[in-house]
Amino acid sequence: MKRVKRLFINLLVLCCIFVTAFMLMGIDAPDGVSPPDGYPNGCVDCHQTTDYTLDVQILNISGHPDISMIVQQVPDGCTMCHKVGVAAGALSLITHENHDINIADGFSETCFSCHTSADDISNKSAAKNW
Ligand code: HEC
Ligand code: HEC
Ligand code: HEC
Repeated sequence: MKRVKRLFINLLVLCCIFVTAFMLMGIDAPDGVSPPDGYPNGCVDCHQTTDYTLDVQILNISGHPDISMIVQQVPDGCTMCHKVGVAAGALSLITHENHDINIADGFSETCFSCHTSADDISNKSAAKNW
């Protein structure tokens, strides 16, 4: 009876070790890897039907310069004007606001429709689609 009890305790300890190890493996996601998502090219994957491409959307903003010729890469091309401290405003603030993003909430899957990784906040970038 004693041996059975000891065997049972040993098995229990072994189980705990495995469960802990698996939990740690789950938490320890490798650096630089972000979850897969449906928008590998960022902005242009969502803004793509005829009247929804960004050149058209932006023409609807009163007073906005026509960007259809000068912007080649999205959103990189936008930052030639949209910088911190200039009248046009920082692209991050504008884009986050447009999409109801509050970065104070921290990184979630939503962020990765535009960002490639949480480590260096790099943006997905693609050729213009207009
Ligand atoms: C996952 C899909 C998705 C991605 C990716 C995305 N957008 Fe949008 N965007 C939307 C939707 C949906 C709206 C409309 C929001 C609303 O009307 O409330 C919007 C609205 C906008 C607007 C506002 C247009 C207006 O009339 O004011 C701009 C500008 C814009 N997006 C630019 C961008 C840029 C730049 C990027 C890339 C950095 C981007 N979007 C990435 C879905 C997306
Ligand atoms: C040639 C310069 C230039 C480029 C390139 C440019 N913008 Fe702008 N943008 C401006 C200026 C100037 C304003 C302010 C217009 C105003 O309020 O009169 C503005 C305003 C905006 C606004 C409205 C901001 C607000 O506070 O309501 C949005 C949205 C916007 N730009 C998005 C973009 C996106 C997205 C791109 C790239 C696809 C882009 N812009 C490229 C100059 C530029
Ligand atoms: C719709 C596209 C879009 C989404 C979604 C988005 N971002 Fe951004 N983010 C941008 C753009 C565009 C920039 C500016 C890139 C540049 O200036 O080169 C930016 C810049 C940033 C920066 C740089 C610092 C700053 O504020 O200037 C941080 C941090 C950031 N984003 C965090 C987040 C987090 C956290 C989320 C999710 C909660 C998120 N972003 C979701 C488009 C997006």
